[in-house]
Amino acid sequence: MEIVVSGVRPTGNQHFGNYMGAIRNFVKFQDEFDIPCYFFVADYHSLTTHPKPEDLQNNVRQILIEYLACGLDPKKSNIYIQSHVPEIPELYLIFNMLAYKGELERSVTFKDKVRSQPENINAGLLTYPVLMAVDIIVHKATQVPVGKDQEQHLEMTRTFARRFNNAYKVEYFPEPQPVSLGDKLVKVPGLDGKGKMSKSESENSAIFLVDDEKKLRKKVMRAVTDAGPKEKNQAMPEEIQNLFQLLELVADGETIQQFKSAYADCTIRYGDLKGAIAENMEKTIKPIRERIHELEADDKLLKEIMHEGATSARKSASATLKDVKEIIGLR
Ligand code: TYM
Repeated sequence: MEIVVSGVRPTGNQHFGNYMGAIRNFVKFQDEFDIPCYFFVADYHSLTTHPKPEDLQNNVRQILIEYLACGLDPKKSNIYIQSHVPEIPELYLIFNMLAYKGELERSVTFKDKVRSQPENINAGLLTYPVLMAVDIIVHKATQVPVGKDQEQHLEMTRTFARRFNNAYKVEYFPEPQPVSLGDKLVKVPGLDGKGKMSKSESENSAIFLVDDEKKLRKKVMRAVTDAGPKEKNQAMPEEIQNLFQLLELVADGETIQQFKSAYADCTIRYGDLKGAIAENMEKTIKPIRERIHELEADDKLLKEIMHEGATSARKSASATLKDVKEIIGLR
């Protein structure tokens, strides 16, 4: 049986990369397939950076609002907050015994953090992939809609699931796969000419779902470019490839072709290219932004959704935890 699980960390507003890489696919899974879906807010994961309590609370609420604004529907999906499901940290404790220091230290995300925040290499950061694996296997999920940056975490999830099955000679956990409903996992580039769109890079490299049209346009128009192609059919530098990737995510085939031809014959005007990206991105984001503003005041609805989501997620999680305890001899 197929089961879908995914989540996002509440570390700030969601950007266009989170939407294209993850949430858009959550909605497609929910609407187009008749399989159980679990989508959550990974609040425990965000504790690795020690957020202020008020910020954490606001960010959790904001992600919930953004999930709903993007189209997640509590009637079709189980939508919950990770910390409302105490079975998750319990199973995490058990799985920490099956995860080894060496493999955790080799995680690319861990190595990045060691480099970027040497003053805060806490144990939670090291075992982050174990908690993430547990988020997934606690519902015995098979499919995990995520962006390309989560590929290694999914590989580690499969390792832990397989290790449990082998250690206890059971075929209990399936090996979950990262998925995108397009043909490959997505990495949405940022506007600063290098790397992926992310919350932690400069504020101007990401387009947030809450950015108004003016801000969105301003950020896109400021995106890094080169001086323009000098020779016909010249290879594109990274910053221009990035702009084309963004265009391809939002524009129709004809528009994309038109700009590709203009690049190839050196007649391209980057201002027009950016204008087309901004215009089409706005078309995608506008309805989401409007819905975010409508939902912002509806505390009652948000509480009801969190409550119902936690109840259904706990039902599934406690069944798994009970089986696991039985299997390992905690009877
Ligand atoms: P997070 O919060 O960094 O990102 C949430 C989702 O957005 C995707 N994403 C992107 N996709 C394409 N292009 C980008 N520029 C881009 N930036 C972000 C991410 O791939 C992710 O799917 N560890 C996870 C949260 C998590 C989780 C889980 C996910 C915790 N437990 C269990 C799946 C299943 C994270 O930090 O995502």
